[in-house]
Amino acid sequence: MANKKFFITTPIYYVNGLPHIGHAYTTAAADVLARYHRLKGDDVFFLVGTDENAQKNVESALKKRKELEDGEKLTTRELAQKYVDLMSAKWQETWDELNISNDDFMRTSAPRHIKYVEDFWAKVLAKGDIYKNTYQGLYCTGCEEYKNESDLVDGVCPLHKRKAEVLSEENYFFKLSKYRDALLKHIEKNPDFIQPETRRNEVVSFIKDFAKDFSISRKSLEWGIPVPGDPSQTIYVWFDALLNYASAKPDRWPADVHLVGKDIIKFHCAYWPAMLMSAGLHLPKTVFAHGFFTISGEKISKTLGNTIDPLDLAKKYGVDATRYVLLAEVPFGQDADVSLEKFDARYESDLVNGLGNLASRILTMASKQPVTFDYSNDGAFKASFKKYWAEYQEALDSLKISDALHTLSAAIKFLDQYINENQPWKLAKEDPAKFQQSISMLLESLRHVAWLYMPLVPEASEKILVSLGVYDGERALGIKKIQNWGNLSGMVEFKKIEPLFPRLTTSK
Ligand code: MSP
Repeated sequence: MANKKFFITTPIYYVNGLPHIGHAYTTAAADVLARYHRLKGDDVFFLVGTDENAQKNVESALKKRKELEDGEKLTTRELAQKYVDLMSAKWQETWDELNISNDDFMRTSAPRHIKYVEDFWAKVLAKGDIYKNTYQGLYCTGCEEYKNESDLVDGVCPLHKRKAEVLSEENYFFKLSKYRDALLKHIEKNPDFIQPETRRNEVVSFIKDFAKDFSISRKSLEWGIPVPGDPSQTIYVWFDALLNYASAKPDRWPADVHLVGKDIIKFHCAYWPAMLMSAGLHLPKTVFAHGFFTISGEKISKTLGNTIDPLDLAKKYGVDATRYVLLAEVPFGQDADVSLEKFDARYESDLVNGLGNLASRILTMASKQPVTFDYSNDGAFKASFKKYWAEYQEALDSLKISDALHTLSAAIKFLDQYINENQPWKLAKEDPAKFQQSISMLLESLRHVAWLYMPLVPEASEKILVSLGVYDGERALGIKKIQNWGNLSGMVEFKKIEPLFPRLTTSK
């Protein structure tokens, strides 16, 4: 039987700045889901990328003109291209450093994308869904969208703290209103299409109340994809950016999951599906919008200077732990407030004292004498891990990352408690046969724990499995066999493991 396909995406981020932990959060969450599906044996396609044709990228490029020109004279277009090339490379490096396992990286200034957008435009035009009209409105370049008066405070965008510009232009429009009913019907018939439910309700009211035709081009911009047949107009950046999901690998479309922040649901749950309907393409199966987090009570913002670079966190905690603390601190789907203190505490409790300590306790006990595996007295272990796997899979299959994390913590707690109550190190001398049974269960449990943690902290999990001597052998086995109870067998000599998560030094 062919492997099940799983196609997951993150938003493609603007490159007018460097990644902060908000972007790292979405990307790490998508990575966990991609890795989980690979563990299940699915044929995964995990797509990330950069949104390069936005005006705000040009604004940033213009600010860096001197540095970028470096003596030579560049046109705005050349300048913007040089800037996005440079910045996009930095985003890719960040994701590489954070061990993000994407299968492709989509850049919207890439020829393969531009060609796809032009063809898509032609399809929508042929369908009669594009028309010209004069539009007067208030445009916020920060949001890259026209705003309603009611979205602004004294004419200023509350999100970007900048005055919306009055634009009056002849633009091309997309007939969103034509798809209103079809969209509502699709959402009603497919309860999994927009998750979580609160976001679904928001989208439904937006579609009911505000789904008007929207402008899909801007006049006389020097950067972006020209409208086919009318180079005086540039395709609106969202109409271009959303298409990255399909242009990356047209034969893999549709995506199973678009993972996005709640700030961009209108684009993903109303504009995008209507555009796809117009072009006669399938809709993505699910758009999951997670919440937003603040740092010590403040919105993450360059102006406030409170952004945290995920690479700085990686220097402090290591890559695995950076991914972990971000995901563990923010209940998936909800808003939250984070801080460096909370990350430190989470690192210590869940990783240093949790997973790391458990692995080193078990392997230290096992290193004292050869272990002959004996599962004749399994206690509750076999059944417990069966339950953990079931809960974990149910959670991750339905995108409930925080529920999966609870299961992992429960497994660690269960084993810690067993060790504290039974003190197997004492048995080693008093009752060697019983010790062998006890350490067998613990080592086998650790094997399960390492696989369960694999999508989240791949490096630490691999180290544990290497210490257990099964990493290479089991990787190819498939999840069903990995989940067996009793894979560790025979007589084995184990070694202690280096600390997986070193304690933080006090001079933080
Ligand atoms: N370029 C568009 C997306 C186009 S997708 C076809 C864009 N880019 S962005 O750089 O502004 O990234 C927004 C996304 O970054 C959010 O949807 C979310 O995934 C992530 N986050 C940015 N700040 C965040 C928080 N403070 N909290 C959680 N996620 C955050 O919009």
